[in-house]
Amino acid sequence: MTIQQAQAEILRLKKEKGVCILAHSYQAREILEVADICGDSFALSAQAAKMPQQQALMCGVRFMAETVKLLSPAKTVWLANPSAGCPMAEQMDKELILQLRAQLPDYTVVAYINTTAELKTVCDVCVTSSSAVAIVKKLSARDIIFLPDCNLGDYVARQVPEKNIKLLQGGCPIHAAVEPAEVRAAKQAHPNALVLVHPECKPSVAALADYIGSTSGIMDYAKQSAAQSFIIGTELSIAEHLQYECPDKSFYHLSKKLICPNMKLTTLMDVLHCLQGRSGEQIELDAETMRGARRCVDEMIRLG
Ligand code: 13P
Ligand code: SF4
Repeated sequence: MTIQQAQAEILRLKKEKGVCILAHSYQAREILEVADICGDSFALSAQAAKMPQQQALMCGVRFMAETVKLLSPAKTVWLANPSAGCPMAEQMDKELILQLRAQLPDYTVVAYINTTAELKTVCDVCVTSSSAVAIVKKLSARDIIFLPDCNLGDYVARQVPEKNIKLLQGGCPIHAAVEPAEVRAAKQAHPNALVLVHPECKPSVAALADYIGSTSGIMDYAKQSAAQSFIIGTELSIAEHLQYECPDKSFYHLSKKLICPNMKLTTLMDVLHCLQGRSGEQIELDAETMRGARRCVDEMIRLG
């Protein structure tokens, strides 16, 4: 079977079965091409609920599929590759957060959307990388616990200095692995290029960037900028997608380490097999998790 044949069969089946395909921007191009919605965590979670289809198929990682289920409880939600998890989402457990809440009862607990549905049940509000600053600004509380990503939390704290933000020691192992020396080397190799980085990178890396933003933020900035070349400080796939979208501009990788093995697990054939009922996992959340986590995600939508 060729890629084109697999794509044609996916398009036929998703229409026949009423399935909306959701793909995070870190997915391979051949998957983005068959998706109904492509985007960052925010776009996927917000737009999926508005789609008319009764089934949603997530090409991304588990917490993203859980978030879709939370916002569309009546829909059947599939994770195309059940082994695709996000290590950051699983870094902290409920007990740790409950202990912290007991110690700091006046703090508002803000969870990055990259957390399990179970963890969200003990948090007050979710944020995505594109909505974090705006939502934290709007919170009435001054004292905030931000989890799990201390790099994103540090970025938010710098943008919202009026808040007292307590950070925990979590983060994305992929983005956090990039070193400032790699930014300096990339700038030396491409002196006219602008450096665009994701806030999951270390503060010492972000400090050397021309722009810091979410996946969509980086893509929009590169497309709209008058500059001709860019060093992309997020998952390697983004430079590739941008190169197709802006063939006259030049895109370089900030670091070869920026490859998320979990995001790469989903293949086009997984999507086809899921639609054929041969693989994939249907996301089920118990009533208590649905209720508790939904409250946290609803608060994000209300403030976002
Ligand atoms: P965004 O899609 O919100 O930019 O997050 C990046 C990421 O690491 C997703 O897992
Ligand atoms: Fe998780 Fe980082 Fe991979 Fe995103 S890039 S899925 S945050 S490990």
